[in-house]
Amino acid sequence: MALRKILTDAESALHKTCKPVVSFDSRLHTLLDDMRETLIESGGVGLAAPQVGILRRVVLVDTGDEILELVNPSLLETSGEQEGAEGCLSVPGKYGLVKRPYYAKVRAQDREGNWYEAEGEELIARCFCHELDHLDGILYTEIMERYLTEEELASEE
Ligand code: CO
Repeated sequence: MALRKILTDAESALHKTCKPVVSFDSRLHTLLDDMRETLIESGGVGLAAPQVGILRRVVLVDTGDEILELVNPSLLETSGEQEGAEGCLSVPGKYGLVKRPYYAKVRAQDREGNWYEAEGEELIARCFCHELDHLDGILYTEIMERYLTEEELASEE
């Protein structure tokens, strides 16, 4: 396994639409292993392949219990609404006010190509939506209401 460099929002890779994964081979497994190590090292909740410069539809989401590997993911269902602080490893040091569904269910393939479903509320739902947006080249900064101020961030902690 190896750490990969996390790109910041100035890099064009973060603004492109990613291609589906078609080969569930050792290259994909290496990417997933490297992304897992990079996510753990960064202390983030989720990581999308374009953030490490790979334009494929692959994301990781840390649910707190496990790190889900979502290959070719799509949103199956969402409900409710939440508004809150959202950050991104590719936009270091900043947080924005972003509206997301309160609940989200996704369908994805695992590293062997088997389809499965995963669901979550609050932070996990927010993370599913945020990471899936990355695969279409969308950063939260494009859909946020505004950046949070230092004072607001301090009061959230
Ligand atoms: Co992000």
